[in-house]
This record gives sequence, structure tokens and C-alpha cells, in this order.
Amino acid sequence: MTDGAADAEPENTHDLQQDEGVLVIRTIAMPADTNPAGDIFGGWLMSQMDLAAGNLAGRIARGRSATVAVEGMQFLRPVKVGDEVTLYASLKSTGRSSMRIHVDAWARRRFAETSAKVTDADFVFVALDDEGKPRAIGDA
Ligand SMILES: CC(C)(COP(=O)(O)OP(=O)(O)OC[C@H]1O[C@@H](n2cnc3c(N)ncnc32)[C@H](O)[C@@H]1OP(=O)(O)O)[C@@H](O)C(=O)NCCC(=O)NCCS
Repeated sequence: MTDGAADAEPENTHDLQQDEGVLVIRTIAMPADTNPAGDIFGGWLMSQMDLAAGNLAGRIARGRSATVAVEGMQFLRPVKVGDEVTLYASLKSTGRSSMRIHVDAWARRRFAETSAKVTDADFVFVALDDEGKPRAIGDA
């Protein structure tokens, strides 16, 4: 790498197009995940987003947690079979037991270099005790 390369504008690749959050899941959309029209079923994408948010929630809560609400879900573009789907999660806020986690989903067509945001939403998770009751975050 030359000295100038480090200062150059980043290439427009999927790794650099996230608008926020940390990469939690990267997977490939498969034919089994399609709707009758042949595009990827929105429910599959929602489940991947829930998994991504739950993964971050588990690290923050340091224990069991559950989804209590999903807000502002937007489907911006279709996901196609073979797309590389990447989920980014970021903690927006915490309450006593709740965590609001924003998830962005990006898709890269199988033979392309660039990607585009396909879906985003806020997931609210609640830290739970062994009885399934809300517990304060940090009380493992
Ligand atoms: C999660 C659950 C234990 C919460 O029970 P609850 O009686 O609503 O508990 P509380 O009223 O004490 O609320 C707990 C926290 O969740 C928040 N919360 C509850 N409902 C919410 C909603 N619809 N939207 C945003 N936050 C919500 C509360 O504000 C509170 O936050 P805080 O502790 O940070 O102040 C209960 O709703 C539950 O078991 N839901 C099912 C969860 C589940 O199975 N998810 C998987 C779906 S298949």
C-alpha cells in the first residue's frame, strides 16, 4: 500500500456502506427462503434481523432476553436468491430492563461489488430473569 492509498476515498463496497452499527450476521439468501413470486420472503429477513438484534441484546443484558416490540420496519428493496445479506446492529438506548436496538439489513447481489440497504427497524428487547420476568440490565 502506498502512503496515498490510506487517504484515498473508500471504494463503494458493501463493507463500507453501512450507515451505523456493527456487523452481526452475514448470510446468503437461499431458494428455500422465497415467497411465491420468487423473491425472498420478508419474514425470513425479519427473523435474521431479530437474530441480529438478539445477539447484541444478549451481550448487553449478559443473559436471557426477549423481543417485546419491533418498530418502524421498512422494506426498501427486494432481496433476491443468492444475495449476500448483512445485518448491522446498534444500541440506541437502554431503560431499566429494555434495550432499543436498531438493525440495518444490506444486500449485495451475488455477482456485484456494491450493496444497498434493503430493510431497517428498531427492535426492543427486554432482559429476563429465570422466570421470564423483566430484570434490570446488568443483574445477570
Ligand atoms: C417481555 C415481557 C416479559 C415484558 O412484560 P411486561 O409486563 O410488559 O413488563 P414491563 O411492563 O415491566 O416492561 C418491561 C420493559 O419493557 C418495555 N416495554 C414493554 N412493552 C413494550 C413495548 N410494546 N414497546 C416498547 N417497550 C416496551 C417497558 O417500557 C419496560 O422497559 P424498562 O424496564 O426499560 O423501563 C412480556 O411482554 C413477554 O413475555 N412478552 C413476550 C416476549 C416474547 O416471547 N418474545 C418473543 C416473541 S416470539
